[in-house]
Amino acid sequence: MPKIAVLTSGGDSQGMNSAIRAVVRTGLANGFEMLGVRRGFKGLMDNDFIELGSKEVSDILYRGGTFLQSARSEAFKTPEGQDQAIKHLQSRAIDYVVVIGGDGSYRGAQALQNKGIKTFGLPGTIDNDIPLTDYTIGFDTTLNVVTDAIGNLRDTMSSHERVSVIEAMGRSCGDIALQAGIASGVDAIIIPEVEADLDKIAKDLKAGFERGKSHSIVIVAEGAGNAVDVAKVLKEKCGLDTRPTVLGHIQRGGTPSAFDRVFTSRLGHHVIELIKQEITGVALGIENNQITYHSFNEIFAAGRNINEQLYHIFNDLI
Ligand code: F6P
Repeated sequence: MPKIAVLTSGGDSQGMNSAIRAVVRTGLANGFEMLGVRRGFKGLMDNDFIELGSKEVSDILYRGGTFLQSARSEAFKTPEGQDQAIKHLQSRAIDYVVVIGGDGSYRGAQALQNKGIKTFGLPGTIDNDIPLTDYTIGFDTTLNVVTDAIGNLRDTMSSHERVSVIEAMGRSCGDIALQAGIASGVDAIIIPEVEADLDKIAKDLKAGFERGKSHSIVIVAEGAGNAVDVAKVLKEKCGLDTRPTVLGHIQRGGTPSAFDRVFTSRLGHHVIELIKQEITGVALGIENNQITYHSFNEIFAAGRNINEQLYHIFNDLI
């Protein structure tokens, strides 16, 4: 029976469990033997595999995190670490590896592929920073978490006539800040892709309060600055009571949204379809609501730009 191993790597994201479940259940239905690797690439090097039957993946569809657990492994970046992992894969006669993770995990997946292991990537990161996919796994859920948090902050900021400066995750990508900003109707966003004009933001905040606003919200993406510093500068410039909030890891938790559950079910299911078509060495994503795939090389070459249309919409709606 051909064997597939699944692992989750890097920062966890809501929907990873649902993606594992989809790969496992579709694989079992098509006659594959399914294995899970614990703690990502570290588990591959440590030979830490578990058998996955249908029961092992029940009750996880709606849970955040990853039941296989995750890790960031420096050792796997070395040729020695990769060779150790490949030795275990070969001794267990594993035919395919499915890596669910972000940019760093895709580098690891590409290294395995280059060394002859048939590998797939699924875009598991809240950051939405993987090229050639409109969404990454967990991004939609994180947007909902951030939008809820902004609603809570708006209540108290409004009572005290304050400005809230909220720091969102995303590494060097501003998508969480941009889309949560649109969803929440915030006053300003500061994102790595666009140079911020703090003088203008401060002036607009002041003018808003002079017009009678009771609160204002500014989101800063972590790749563009931190909430404490930005709040301090804005307070100096506009004189308003400006309070920082770092949302931190709260953004990575919570039950996956319906979108993320359906998206990951489609992704996981599609991996097995590709194996049947003898297509391997690719990462899957969603473009224009179709599940698509590209080689790791294509993805790294593509790079990722800000969604100009959404940025334009944000600016027109302030
Ligand atoms: O890549 C996902 C992410 O949550 C980023 O947004 C953030 O910068 C990073 O991981 C935090 O990583 P860690 O949990 O290892 O501190």
